[in-house]
Amino acid sequence: MMVKKFMFFILFIFTFSTVFAHDWNWEQINTDDLYKSFPENFLWGSATAEYQNSGSATCFNNNWADWENTKNEDETTKILQNQKSNSATDHYNLYKEDIKLMKDFNLNSYRFSVEWSLLEPEEGIFDLDALKHYEDLIDELILNNITPMITLHHFTNPKWFQEKGSFEKEENIQYFERFAKFVFEKLSSKVKLWCTINEPAIYAFTGYVMGMFPPGEKDLQKAAEVLKNLLLAHTNVYKSLKQMPNGKNVQIGLVHNLLKFEQYSWWNLLETIPVHYLNMITTDSVMGFLKTKKFYFYIPTQAYVAFEIDDEKILDFVGLNYYSHPLLAMQTSIYEPFISTCLENEVMSDCHYRFHPEGIYKAIEEISSLNVPIYITENGIADREDKNRDVFIKRYLYSLSKAIEDGYDVRGYFYWTLVDNFEWNEGFLQKFGLFEFDHDTKIRTLKPGAIAYKKIIENWQNQNLKN
Ligand code: BGC
Repeated sequence: MMVKKFMFFILFIFTFSTVFAHDWNWEQINTDDLYKSFPENFLWGSATAEYQNSGSATCFNNNWADWENTKNEDETTKILQNQKSNSATDHYNLYKEDIKLMKDFNLNSYRFSVEWSLLEPEEGIFDLDALKHYEDLIDELILNNITPMITLHHFTNPKWFQEKGSFEKEENIQYFERFAKFVFEKLSSKVKLWCTINEPAIYAFTGYVMGMFPPGEKDLQKAAEVLKNLLLAHTNVYKSLKQMPNGKNVQIGLVHNLLKFEQYSWWNLLETIPVHYLNMITTDSVMGFLKTKKFYFYIPTQAYVAFEIDDEKILDFVGLNYYSHPLLAMQTSIYEPFISTCLENEVMSDCHYRFHPEGIYKAIEEISSLNVPIYITENGIADREDKNRDVFIKRYLYSLSKAIEDGYDVRGYFYWTLVDNFEWNEGFLQKFGLFEFDHDTKIRTLKPGAIAYKKIIENWQNQNLKN
């Protein structure tokens, strides 16, 4: 009897996990009409970051320019394969052409970062030419009916801020706050959507756990401190900007990459433990803080970092960056005991993320617990040969359309990214763009796989015209 019960239990768990792993039958789903689910004022955009688009040639005063030059031979950054950002797509100088690309593509919004090291190249000294550049960029967007969304911090720091210890020190938050207030004062009459910090957890994880981003450290305690300071920086900036003129007329949010790992074999405890810790670092500590205003980061064998703020509003919206729920599997190698893999019916993107369109629905479901409007501030696929982009766009957007139909308050979608750009420690190896570009001539060319996105927006526009 006991054996029978046990067998039944095992069968139940197996069926349960299999059903959840393959919950949508994509072969039978028709994605043609998905545009019908999107509301009339929906934002369709693309997202970029200044350093990735303009490189060290323009942003020579930041910590990434230093990192590329000094650490390139280092073991941790070998993956760069000596690809340096140089002028990247030269978006800084070619922004008018890029806005034309957006316009022709039917995009009605654009998420970009303002580069701190350009605006404040030296501590306390603001560069008015750089400010003029961003004013011109914003004017050009508005002229083309493209809604701007600004990110104040997207992974890079001015050199002077890095030298002071950057976000490793709580007392340095004031410098970021001063910069944010300067930019907000100058640009908030025209820009209504503001992201404070892009992916605090990824910044802390890649820079202080994996050692792949500057400063290239592997110190969990420091990562926890940095993450705590970034969340505090967001909180302080949110509160300060809200009190400034225009503060009440704009929406200010934090961008979180909901990178939730899953285990390949549900029964394997050796997968459960790393998955638990990875999720704590990359997602749960941030979600916990945004929900409860209490930050906890437990570190085995060391002290844990915690802080708490008053229970007040610190978000008008949340930016959800979503790529995948990476599937972690154990393998028999002492050098690489875990790999990121995929299920039988899935494919891997070039940067080892499983193609998992259902995941964007799951991520929206999870992040909606914050009870604020959601913007998908990044979603895209690294696809060098452009062979999966078309299906990626249709399926991820179908999944998003289902979330909207089910009542989740998602107000915009920003595809990462407009033109292939400098993918941090992976140089130009990863190709996320709707457009590719020629490194010598800088000429941009539309990728066939991106047309799916253009068509969806076009159908949605035509539908709006009819109504
Ligand atoms: C980052 C981008 C990056 C993208 C693709 C996001 O985590 O915000 O800067 O290029 O992922 O890897």
